[in-house]
Amino acid sequence: MANIRLLKDTIPGFLLVLTTIFLLNSCNSSGKKKEASKNTEIQNVSKPVTKAELPPYLSEGKKVYRQVCLTCHQANGGGVPGLNPPLIKTDNVLGDKNTLLEIIIKGSEADLARDKSEYANVMQGYGMLGDEDIANVASYIRNSFGNKAEPITASEVAAFRSAIKK
Ligand code: HEC
Repeated sequence: MANIRLLKDTIPGFLLVLTTIFLLNSCNSSGKKKEASKNTEIQNVSKPVTKAELPPYLSEGKKVYRQVCLTCHQANGGGVPGLNPPLIKTDNVLGDKNTLLEIIIKGSEADLARDKSEYANVMQGYGMLGDEDIANVASYIRNSFGNKAEPITASEVAAFRSAIKK
């Protein structure tokens, strides 16, 4: 008799302890979930911010470069020895804007001030591209492959074109 009463007294207490442990546990894990969702919210907010900070000529110029220039000058701007020159830290790429525009618009016909036999390939002129595309690709190569130089605008391309009528 005394044993049964003892059981009756302890079972509710035991259940209470179990429920408390269960409740504490679930509180804890939902707290963790909240923390996790907070973290992903922060990540999602910070991603577009860094994208927006990149100047548009980098992404737009890259598209033109990939379609038109990459086969010869390569993805890393390193060129191909004996065939196509590298575009990394050269005077023609980083220097005078009109010199670079002349090369892109006239290709190998431009005055490159180098021995023509140095590179076996011939670069055609890309005057058929629009002002925007030329400005973007020129600015892209001036600021990729470790290069750093002031970007070129579409109106600078238009001004150069009307000066040389091409
Ligand atoms: C068919 C291969 C080919 C393609 C495509 C090509 N190039 Fe060239 N590029 C050359 C060659 C070859 C030269 C060297 C020409 C010479 O010395 O006469 C050159 C030279 C250059 C130079 C001068 C490099 C220096 O520092 O002296 C620049 C800048 C340049 N190219 C940019 C471009 C851009 C931008 C594009 C795309 C719009 C492009 N090229 C597409 C082959 C190519």
